[in-house]
Amino acid sequence: MQTLAKQSMVIVGAGHCGGRAAQALRSAGWAGVIHLVGDEPHAPYERPPLSKDLLTGDKTPTACALHSDEDWANLQVRRHVAQVTSIHPADHSVTLSNGEVLGYQSLLLAHGGKVRTLTIPGGDLPEVLTLRNLGDAAALAQRLQPGKRLLVVGGGFIGLEVAASARKLGCEVTVVEGAPRLMGRAVPEPVAERALALHRAQGVRVLLGASPQSIERTADGVRMLLADGTQLDADTVLAGIGIEPHLGLAQAAGLAVGRGIQVDAQLRTSVPGIFAAGDVAEFPSALSSQLIRQETWHNAETQAGIAAQNMLGGNATYTSLPWFWSDQYHYQLQVVGEPALAVTSATRALEDDGLVIFYLDASQRIVGACGWGEASRVAKELKLARTLVEKGVSASAEALADPATKLKALLK
Ligand code: APR
Repeated sequence: MQTLAKQSMVIVGAGHCGGRAAQALRSAGWAGVIHLVGDEPHAPYERPPLSKDLLTGDKTPTACALHSDEDWANLQVRRHVAQVTSIHPADHSVTLSNGEVLGYQSLLLAHGGKVRTLTIPGGDLPEVLTLRNLGDAAALAQRLQPGKRLLVVGGGFIGLEVAASARKLGCEVTVVEGAPRLMGRAVPEPVAERALALHRAQGVRVLLGASPQSIERTADGVRMLLADGTQLDADTVLAGIGIEPHLGLAQAAGLAVGRGIQVDAQLRTSVPGIFAAGDVAEFPSALSSQLIRQETWHNAETQAGIAAQNMLGGNATYTSLPWFWSDQYHYQLQVVGEPALAVTSATRALEDDGLVIFYLDASQRIVGACGWGEASRVAKELKLARTLVEKGVSASAEALADPATKLKALLK
């Protein structure tokens, strides 16, 4: 085992982060074996299109792939369609669901999370779907025909992006959100309010503070009962109620685990030779040093490279700041940095009811920004805002709020 282990890198999870890590190991010069273990039949792909272009047919599954078949062949990665069922840190090996045992020199845990399902009566009916992988997207797309009634549970990113896609496809859409506002996990209130107004203007019925109690079959679909007695009829229910990071594997192997698998700034877990990255990792924020977990494309993309370097004996530090976006209709929202660290904020108006909110700490350092508005405009403003946050620029709330202040000028 030891001889084999010395020549092998093992990556658990063949998603975006795992796929990028395999590529980064090769780019960094690793010539030995790379095992990539994942339970999806597909090669690694990017997930953002699942709720948008893939549903509307504007993108194919092939276009979502991280690498072409030819690139995979060149990378010479041994892909295993299986789950890792146990980790044995003492002899540097993992056991797969097919019984195979793989030795590792370094091990990366990038196996993400499991989609939450509705635990109410009827939550397991075949009309009730979730959306996490390519298979889920194909099943949902088939049901989003013009005139069909879609009931979305959860007004987070998945729920709202699917609502927008379904409207584009001509479906009748209702969103039921348990909290009193949309996107409560990661988006500031003023932006959530604007998103609510936009969805309603686009013909989506949005119910806030709504608590689904049960789902039953009817003659022509399903009926959901809410706690306040409201009955909602639909052809399809989509539960977009979040994910739970996969922690059992790491816990069983004795790794330190909190809200995610805990790692240091070099993405090392508490057990030597084992690293974690992507949705599953809880890591120290570069801004506050507090442990945070990020379920984002950017996190998967950027942590993969750092983990790969350190799996090879490097000492690279993860310094990238949180960043994510969501596209809904022709609007976009972006959040960069950590708005939660702010003591004050400054709102800068954009055309068409758009806005950028800057978040400042006690020393007027910009620790976060959130933008909402017409997509290309927000992309342009947030590119500058991101640089301001990354560079730790300080500015007064008045200057930031003033549309006459050129953001570019603050960078100098
Ligand atoms: N009934 C109604 N709403 C619920 C219920 C429930 N039983 N349970 C949770 N919710 C709501 C939450 O209040 C929240 O607004 O569902 C929403 C879930 O939102 P997110 O946590 O953003 O999760 P989701 O939209 O499913 O996204 C999952 O995909 O796009 C990525 O970054 C995203 O990693 C995340 C993942």
